[in-house]
Amino acid sequence: MWFKNREKAPIAAEASANMKDSSNVLEIDDLKVHFFTDDGVVKAVDGISLDIPKNTTVGIVGESGCGKSVTSMSIMRLLQEPPASIVGGEIRLNLGDDALDLAKMNKDSMRRIRGKEVAMIFQEPMTSLNPVFTIGEQLMEGILVHRPDIGNAELKGKVIELLKMVGISRSEEIVKSYPHELSGGMKQRVVIAMALSCEPRLIIADEPTTALDVTIQAQVLELMRELKDRIHTSIMLITHDLGVVAEMAEMVVVMYAGRIVEQGTVYEIFENPLHPYTRGLMKARPTKDNKSKRLYSIEGNVPSPVGLPDYCYFHNRCEESEEDCKNEYPTLVSVTPTHKVSCYVANKENKNA
Ligand SMILES: Nc1ncnc2c1ncn2[C@@H]1O[C@H](COP(=O)(O)OP(=O)(O)O)[C@@H](O)[C@H]1O
Ligand SMILES: [Mg+2]
Repeated sequence: MWFKNREKAPIAAEASANMKDSSNVLEIDDLKVHFFTDDGVVKAVDGISLDIPKNTTVGIVGESGCGKSVTSMSIMRLLQEPPASIVGGEIRLNLGDDALDLAKMNKDSMRRIRGKEVAMIFQEPMTSLNPVFTIGEQLMEGILVHRPDIGNAELKGKVIELLKMVGISRSEEIVKSYPHELSGGMKQRVVIAMALSCEPRLIIADEPTTALDVTIQAQVLELMRELKDRIHTSIMLITHDLGVVAEMAEMVVVMYAGRIVEQGTVYEIFENPLHPYTRGLMKARPTKDNKSKRLYSIEGNVPSPVGLPDYCYFHNRCEESEEDCKNEYPTLVSVTPTHKVSCYVANKENKNA
């Protein structure tokens, strides 16, 4: 009513937020994302809290089904709501003078955030690319959405510059190509160029290299690492591969069945993993010595997020569980100011150490 003469709807007042720490780009606070299905309530994400500091890569790890993608899709507000619903918590995005709660943004306001402030890179590059337009057309389109007044010459120059940034030198040729004419690695480079086009504060990369073969994977990761330092962006890097996290991330978050079971700096997680699940993931990683041997894997599966027990969700797969573990779900306890773990056994060990 009040704003009927305004060209654009104001960003919903209820979506404004106060950051806990202004050096964070994003703060997720007690986020709960549930799916309301015929089989019951799927608690895909159930009370996670994490910060993404400026110019930092935060790795999110966990097996398939742990809630990593639901977390990233919630930040982008790309989940279909319903059946999905953000039933609690905040997703605070720091815009410098302003902070917004993305969990409460309306669809219109969210369109202005997506791509411009937060960009996403998916596992499958064709999720982001349209088969019927050339690479040049798609890159221009991405820039125009957020900079409609840009001149033609500047626009073309920007496209070439972006392609150079992602290591594509034959850019004149590539702009005229269609996605199917490019290899998987090239397509993912183009997607990264698209993500960079508006210099977002945060890039969410959900398994960005999982679909690529190992050599290309290493090249794309190297590129992302280089670009992060060049454009001072933060990266939320989602992967089931601990090796990728060890190489790329400064901070690590380990998720299990919709919750965070351990988080810390990359050194804390790799040199002093405390949760039996984190240790299991590490043992399951192929190393030079065990490459030829049969790999260890954590027995059993991630439990279904419908009807989870009221004690530790990892209990039935845990090699270290004790009597206490069937008590109520363990809270996340701080071991250092940055290292937290949610496990009775780990906390006991730590106290005795
Ligand atoms: N549309 C949906 N309806 C019901 N359940 C869903 C839907 N999407 C995801 N889930 C469930 O949410 C949980 C987390 O999924 P997801 O975030 O994709 O896991 P990850 O990315 O860690 O592999 C899984 O148990 C999955 O089955
Ligand atoms: Mg996923």
